[in-house]
Amino acid sequence: MEAPRWWLLVPALLAVGHCLALANQEDSGAMDPSPPDVPPGPALPCHKLSVSNIDFAFDLYRQLASEAPGENVLFSPVGISWALARLFLEAPAASRAHLLEGLGFNLTLVSEAEIQEGFRDLLRRLPVQGPQLLLMLGQRRFSGLGPGAAQDPAGAQHSIREYVEKQTRGQLGAWVEELSDATEEVLVSHLLLRAGWARPFDPRATSLKKFFVDEHRAVPVPMMRQKARHRFLHDPELQCTVLQMEHAANATTFFVFPQRGRLGQLEDALLAETLIKWDSQLRTR
Ligand SMILES: *[C@@H]1O[C@H](CO)[C@@H](O)[C@H](O)[C@H]1NC(C)=O
Ligand SMILES: *[C@@H]1O[C@H](CO)[C@@H](O)[C@H](O)[C@H]1NC(C)=O
Repeated sequence: MEAPRWWLLVPALLAVGHCLALANQEDSGAMDPSPPDVPPGPALPCHKLSVSNIDFAFDLYRQLASEAPGENVLFSPVGISWALARLFLEAPAASRAHLLEGLGFNLTLVSEAEIQEGFRDLLRRLPVQGPQLLLMLGQRRFSGLGPGAAQDPAGAQHSIREYVEKQTRGQLGAWVEELSDATEEVLVSHLLLRAGWARPFDPRATSLKKFFVDEHRAVPVPMMRQKARHRFLHDPELQCTVLQMEHAANATTFFVFPQRGRLGQLEDALLAETLIKWDSQLRTR
């Protein structure tokens, strides 16, 4: 296979997917030519956020990617939407509309009250703590910093680092941002995800293979292999392939593999509609 420069939609998008009325898990695959037009199950309050949250995630992705060409990009869109959504609760009315529009909401289509209820609903559904799926999302605000504060910046930094280490169970490297003397408040947002595959990999099938970090450079990494049925498609228009892999407990990861040299084109086309189109075209094979 040609070695594409590839990237993955971070599992954090899974948090969006979690609340997106996507296709029925019982995909009857190639046998069933009719796309799932009707979302399964009743509409939930958090569904009102789905399209805006996805568009926000992709817009932010484009921005981060353009600021760091050639670098890896890893972020939790829902964590950021949620942080901004919390700010909006405290903001004066005029700034509220700005914040919500910045998050991609069209206030003629969805009301502030529906957005609030949507986020509350999303957060009620998100924390999952089981043996197969652990998805913890949290935020804490460290305020009262800055000039005249009881705690000096070094002390505050220490508390924040301790908090982050505890919340991420030491999985995240040190929190390295330096607090400046003028910093008055820090909002820490964290997400911890551990998800087993619905169809686990055989560890014996893992071996070192070349992983292409860009078009020309490869590094050896342990590469997992399996032969199984998954939802898959080739998108001739965007020249990419999409693989959907199920985790246990209703969580899903999408991998999107652009063909060589087609990453930019794909990035430009990342919209909620694209995800919805892929979802209707994915077939088990
Ligand atoms: C919001 O939705 C209305 C109704 O569909 C549309 O006319 C308007 O252009 C939208 N505004 C933005 C900023 O997209
Ligand atoms: C998966 O989703 C179905 C339908 O929404 C629900 O009944 C079931 O409890 C979920 N399973 C887990 C492990 O969350």
